[in-house]
Amino acid sequence: MGKKISKICCIGAGYVGGPTMAVIAQKCPHITVTVVDLNQARIDAWNDPDTNNIPVYEPGLDAVVAEARGRNLFFSTEVDKAIDEAEMIFISVNTPTKTYGTGKGMAADLKYIELCARQIARVAKDDKIVVEKSTLPVRTAEAVKNILQNTGNGVNYQILSNPEFLAEGTAVEDLHAPDRVLIGGDTTPEGQEALESLVEVYANWVPRERILTTNLWSSELSKLTANAFLAQRVSSINALSELCERTGADVSEVARSIGTDSRIGPKFLKSSVGFGGSCFQKDILNLVYIARSYGLKEVADYWEQVIIMNDHQKRRFATNIVKTLYNTVSGKKIAFLGWAFKKDTNDTRESAAIYVADDLLNEQAGISVYDPKVPESQVYSDLDYLETRASEKNKQLVTVVTDPYEACKDAHAIAVLTEWDEFKEYDWIKIFENMKKPAFVFDGRNLLDTNKLKDIGFKVYSIGKEA
Ligand code: UDX
Ligand code: UDX
Repeated sequence: MGKKISKICCIGAGYVGGPTMAVIAQKCPHITVTVVDLNQARIDAWNDPDTNNIPVYEPGLDAVVAEARGRNLFFSTEVDKAIDEAEMIFISVNTPTKTYGTGKGMAADLKYIELCARQIARVAKDDKIVVEKSTLPVRTAEAVKNILQNTGNGVNYQILSNPEFLAEGTAVEDLHAPDRVLIGGDTTPEGQEALESLVEVYANWVPRERILTTNLWSSELSKLTANAFLAQRVSSINALSELCERTGADVSEVARSIGTDSRIGPKFLKSSVGFGGSCFQKDILNLVYIARSYGLKEVADYWEQVIIMNDHQKRRFATNIVKTLYNTVSGKKIAFLGWAFKKDTNDTRESAAIYVADDLLNEQAGISVYDPKVPESQVYSDLDYLETRASEKNKQLVTVVTDPYEACKDAHAIAVLTEWDEFKEYDWIKIFENMKKPAFVFDGRNLLDTNKLKDIGFKVYSIGKEA
């Protein structure tokens, strides 16, 4: 039996920490859950009386927050206080790809993880269970343990790895009914006891047989590998999409044909403009870096190819737009429907839209962006982050609007970058009438009804299908 937990703290109120803790609080009313973050604005938004304004958009999350907040779910910037009071501390801070030094562009930057460990070591006065929630390179727990044990106040720490498998857009659903929860811990009796404490938290709503326990290293590596396998499937089907376009095969039909083989399965075979999100690219690069650092060149090259294929898919979408618009988009208006990396989220990290826009801006296109959940400031900051051109230039070439019909008005072409359901419901006749002719649609998600659009008069390009 593990110690019964009554106070949890989570450092990092982001896309993972926020929803995960909200659901733990909802399902465990006997546990006080405090989510802390350095970012005051983010915490203020989590505390906004109107749950429409919480900083992470996820279907159903507002209701979970409304139910638990103020009861046993709290958001605060008082990090030290929360650490001091908690028996179990989750670390859910971001681990971006390093932008400097050794491993630049590939390795995970663990500075925030280390800062958290040092802060816990400084503050803790009694025994703590520290849970890695962020996705981390295998053997990170060793570093965390070292810092805690060597700089701490002589208190005992147990480190657990409890990686997140939720996907954005379905986070609440994934948390309510996960395929599995994975918990890794030390194989010592103390490690197993800590592990059991966390099992008991999840057992409040997850069936025991779905709670897998492993050693620390298996758990850490399983998380990176799960993302690499999923991303590899998208890159595999996207590699075939280009061949389909050349041969008259239809990528959706190919996906259906192979996906009905139960050994392959139907999921993650939807061809697209390329995968995005905070995890796939970062985690694969990290895996490549780890393999390379062990001298495993072939292993590293193999996984790197998944990223190369994804970059190719984004680039060829942009190139095709330019080529189709008579080899020039200079001064033309291209409407972007969608900016988020997938539907039902306001997250834009590594979204294919950013890279497609960047390529088109290099060709001096004007872009008008509409996304139902992404604000103007985010679009500009995503483009500025690439440092391809001056910020003023991005502002000059890109406009962000809150009405899709305005985005498409007088456009030469529409590019669908995110598969938001509402795009299917638009009045496409009205859109057609207000566009420049010929009116092109480039459907980067194979979302729209191609035949209907063609009947209206659009020229339509879909991924992996003959034009
Ligand atoms: C992060 C990781 O990127 C991912 O690998 C992991 O699986 C889960 O955690 P996410 O929640 O999407 O993903 O990150 P983000 O939305 O950026 O949230 C992290 C939060 O931590 C931010 O709000 C940031 O302000 C906060 N933070 C960061 C701290 O409070 N303290 C720090 O020292 C660093
Ligand atoms: C992913 C993992 O699924 C999740 O388990 C992990 O914890 C975090 O990373 P997420 O980034 O939220 O989750 O999104 P996911 O649904 O996996 O999609 C990633 C990208 O692949 C998106 O850009 C999506 O549009 C794209 N994709 C997905 C496709 O292009 N085709 C598909 O068939 C599936």
